[in-house]
Amino acid sequence: MAWSGIRYGYGTVLLLLLLLVKPCASDDRLVPGKPLFPGATIVSGSGSFALGFFSLTKSTPANLYLGIWYNNVPRLTVVWVANRETPITNSTSPPPALSLTNTSDLVLSDASGRVLWTTNVTGGVSPLPTAAAIGLAAVLLDTGNLAVRSPNGTTLWQSFEHPSDTFLPGMKIRMKYKHNGERRGERVVSWKGPDDPSPGSFAYGADPVTFLQMFVWNGTRPALRSAPWTGFMVDGQYPANSSAYIYVAIVNTEEDTYISYSLSDGAAHTRYVLTYSGEYQLQSWNGSSSAWAVLGKWPTWECNRYAHCGPYGYCDSTMAAPTCRCLDGFEPANSDEWSSGRFSRGCRQKEALRCGDGDGDGFLALPGMKSPDKFVLVPNRTAGECAAECAKNCSCVAYAYANLSSSGSSKGDVTRCLVWAGELIDTEKMGDMAGGETLYLRSAGLDDTGSRSRANTHAMKIVLPTVLVSSTVILAGTILACFKLQARKRNREDHRKLELILGGTGTSDGLGEGNTAQDFEFPFVRFEDIVVATDNFSEACKIGQGGFGKVYKAMLSGKEVAIKRLSKDSEQGTNEFRNEVVLIARLQHRNLVRLLGCSVQGDEKTLIYEYLPNKSLDATLFDNSRKMLLDWPIRFNIVKGVARGLLYLHQDSRLTIIHRDLKAANVLLDGEMRPKIADFGMARIFSDNQTKANTRRVAGTYGYMAPEYAMEGIFSIKSDVYSFGVLLVEIVTGVRRSSIDDIMGFPNLIIYAWNMWKEGKTGHLADSSIMDTCLPDEILLCIQVALLCLQENPDDRPHMSYVVLSLENRSTTLPKPNQPAYFTQRSTEMEQIIYNKNSVNTLTLTNIEAR
Ligand SMILES: *[C@@H]1O[C@H](CO)[C@@H](O)[C@H](O)[C@H]1NC(C)=O
Ligand SMILES: *[C@@H]1O[C@H](CO)[C@@H](O)[C@H](O)[C@H]1NC(C)=O
Ligand SMILES: *[C@@H]1O[C@H](CO)[C@@H](O)[C@H](O)[C@H]1NC(C)=O
Ligand SMILES: *[C@@H]1O[C@H](CO)[C@@H](O)[C@H](O)[C@H]1NC(C)=O
Ligand SMILES: *[C@@H]1O[C@H](CO)[C@@H](O)[C@H](O)[C@H]1NC(C)=O
Ligand SMILES: *[C@@H]1O[C@H](CO)[C@@H](O)[C@H](O)[C@H]1NC(C)=O
Ligand SMILES: *[C@@H]1O[C@H](CO)[C@@H](O)[C@H](O)[C@H]1NC(C)=O
Ligand SMILES: *[C@@H]1O[C@H](CO)[C@@H](O)[C@H](O)[C@H]1NC(C)=O
Ligand SMILES: *[C@@H]1O[C@H](CO)[C@@H](O)[C@H](O)[C@H]1NC(C)=O
Ligand SMILES: *[C@@H]1O[C@H](CO)[C@@H](O)[C@H](O)[C@H]1NC(C)=O
Ligand SMILES: *[C@@H]1O[C@H](CO)[C@@H](O)[C@H](O)[C@H]1NC(C)=O
Ligand SMILES: *[C@@H]1O[C@H](CO)[C@@H](O)[C@H](O)[C@H]1NC(C)=O
Repeated sequence: MAWSGIRYGYGTVLLLLLLLVKPCASDDRLVPGKPLFPGATIVSGSGSFALGFFSLTKSTPANLYLGIWYNNVPRLTVVWVANRETPITNSTSPPPALSLTNTSDLVLSDASGRVLWTTNVTGGVSPLPTAAAIGLAAVLLDTGNLAVRSPNGTTLWQSFEHPSDTFLPGMKIRMKYKHNGERRGERVVSWKGPDDPSPGSFAYGADPVTFLQMFVWNGTRPALRSAPWTGFMVDGQYPANSSAYIYVAIVNTEEDTYISYSLSDGAAHTRYVLTYSGEYQLQSWNGSSSAWAVLGKWPTWECNRYAHCGPYGYCDSTMAAPTCRCLDGFEPANSDEWSSGRFSRGCRQKEALRCGDGDGDGFLALPGMKSPDKFVLVPNRTAGECAAECAKNCSCVAYAYANLSSSGSSKGDVTRCLVWAGELIDTEKMGDMAGGETLYLRSAGLDDTGSRSRANTHAMKIVLPTVLVSSTVILAGTILACFKLQARKRNREDHRKLELILGGTGTSDGLGEGNTAQDFEFPFVRFEDIVVATDNFSEACKIGQGGFGKVYKAMLSGKEVAIKRLSKDSEQGTNEFRNEVVLIARLQHRNLVRLLGCSVQGDEKTLIYEYLPNKSLDATLFDNSRKMLLDWPIRFNIVKGVARGLLYLHQDSRLTIIHRDLKAANVLLDGEMRPKIADFGMARIFSDNQTKANTRRVAGTYGYMAPEYAMEGIFSIKSDVYSFGVLLVEIVTGVRRSSIDDIMGFPNLIIYAWNMWKEGKTGHLADSSIMDTCLPDEILLCIQVALLCLQENPDDRPHMSYVVLSLENRSTTLPKPNQPAYFTQRSTEMEQIIYNKNSVNTLTLTNIEAR
């Protein structure tokens, strides 16, 4: 058949279009009365996807399928197939056709008029009258979704809800429907073979029993299992290339809970696909090699496979060469088999539990675990009640607890207390950073000090049933966190750990621009090396004290670096650490400080940054003996650089990053006094649509915080814009916002700036040390931009793109700012409130250097 050639290239498709002279709609939609025939295609608006007939084998007669493929990928890559089970085998004339009927159904019928496939939304019962059918269309969207839309615009059916073997960006894999209970979540089903789209034996989808975890099934048997959902909403983004992010989220709405992901603008085509051999792969199109590069795959290694390590065994993925181990207090059931690599019999208890006879059993806390399968979900429990639930019942062997509402987006308190009564199967040690949670394992033979007397213990702490360690679950993992990207090299455990933190490194695609695979070898540094380099964190090496820890200068691998040691006692430490590593490692911009590496050993966490000799902006700007180093042209460049860095964070990709703690102390200066934004410990990622969020934990720095954030905990890119406004006034005036002294008789810097601007005297605002070098127009411009940024209503404040544009173009036609936030009645009490909050919560942590 002529169209069997499609597989062999785009050129062939074009050729076929010419050969098969058909009335073809080169449109993005199918309308009633105009069927689609083989040879013609429907192409989505910007040309990313095509819908049409294709064939995969050269045999005649070839099986013909209706499907969607990447239109601009020169190798036929089908992402969706309509008639997977019913190929068109006889396509002599009249040809098969896809039509949209007046019952709003898509119908694929073959030469003989037989219906091979239909959407069958209405059951064929309620045809629209001809007049009303105008506007009814099946539209191929740029996401690759084929949507049947009724004349009033509602979507009646969409291919995204009926996936084949591909999970595309924007698609939702539902775990749970809150209403409409009879519907099952979407399942991705593999092909049978490379040339056979009929449903294979592998399927990916949510656990229909618990709705808490994802599976890949082989037939009816589980082949792979994710960690149970712990309520951590957003997973990191996997680097596709330097400017591209994959952004995976578990979204929990009133309606349903689902997994979805998106790509940043300009990212190469990327997809998750369940291959016919049962591997769940993340693939990205590499134009230069004209091939799909596998960025990651699941199973990542053998012991990821479901129940590979047997009952009470677990796969230790934190090791350089992941392998099976026995849970603490267990030993191989058959040591000969175990040592020869056959793990399926698992492990057995070394010492019987003494449940009931008073002293004896306790619970071992195993952090960073993927909890076992076959749990019982006990609803509506606090952490303590969950522990008690397990402690009181001798058949309970383990429990794990998560507060699913801790991410703040689901309504009400949804807690998740899992208890196990039978065998513990399919456990994995994945590390806290990779999304593990703490599994509490009932255990006998604990000594008084709360540690096991035997060697070879992997457990960290002993807890009594009612005393819980502050929940490490905050961090805990997402469904997809178990999907580790393929490790390129695993010769060092530390290196592996970093991959887990970062969600893994790509196989071939480096992180791009100046951060190649080579650089990626560097990131992991042994803690001992850091101790040596910093002379055991000596005061002599200390160069600063930032949020969450002290900063030291050191030489590592012949390079000057800044080492930030996170304070052990800071409760937020691990959270912020993860945040910072995940965020910065992926951010590449000349106005953002570069993270070179990190180290985790026990509770010692350190971050290694490029060393910037001129320290933080506040150290020079507010120091009377040094501020003359910053003449006006340098300051103006700093302003523009910070603006560009912030713009990158806010708008670079579909990812929106809110820094939340922009201030002079967090702007570092390099050898040429170029600014780099630092300290991402507080930063938050927003999804595509999200414009603002609310937090109970107001963190940031007094004086720089936007009023809506300080007062109500609402933050958005506009709260960063506010902080930028404060910084801008500081840079012009060389005066600290938080200065306690009156400024020329005005109560604070912002009020002073506003009054000077109102009276047309912005020239007076300039720092005396820049009088000689400054241009009055630029000062006016900066102050006016700053005042726009400082307006009370966040909606009135400009976006950073506008700020950058105005500064770069030296714009002279700026709008008139409203009076800044600090002028309103609300603000009278505000500083007091902030001050009070300051004394009770985390504000203090980052506040130190602002004074
Ligand atoms: C294919 O269809 C044509 C026309 O409908 C019919 O004459 C022919 O016998 C069919 N061939 C096969 C192999 O079914
Ligand atoms: C469409 O659905 C109706 C009822 O749901 C069913 O009776 C009918 O057989 C279906 N038609 C096809 C072609 O699948
Ligand atoms: C719908 O289409 C069928 C044939 O495709 C036609 O027989 C029928 O009259 C149409 N119904 C209406 C209400 O237009
Ligand atoms: C739109 O039309 C569909 C049927 O075509 C109907 O079920 C739905 O209620 C309509 N929605 C609105 C908002 O009119
Ligand atoms: C899937 O199951 C079949 C039959 O049970 C088995 O032969 C095959 O090895 C399994 N494949 C995978 C990848 O688990
Ligand atoms: C990232 O991928 C996009 C799309 O393929 C490409 O245009 C861009 O040049 C890539 N960037 C780098 C740094 O490789
Ligand atoms: C949850 O438990 C508390 C007390 O343990 C009880 O008051 C409340 O009604 C329960 N909520 C639900 C939804 O069961
Ligand atoms: C203890 O747990 C087992 C298994 O979940 C259950 O069958 C049994 O009823 C429980 N016993 C008590 C007293 O709750
Ligand atoms: C769960 O977390 C939410 C938000 O952090 C909190 O309000 C709630 O009290 C927590 N519930 C339990 C049972 O700990
Ligand atoms: C694409 O493939 C080429 C050739 O195999 C390779 O050199 C290049 O690094 C790849 N680029 C990406 C972004 O994967
Ligand atoms: C480093 O200092 C700590 C206490 O500050 C001390 O306990 C430790 O032994 C020192 N390590 C080395 C290698 O000197
Ligand atoms: C974004 O918002 C639009 C409309 O508000 C909604 O239809 C769409 O589903 C949202 N997308 C995501 C990824 O949440």
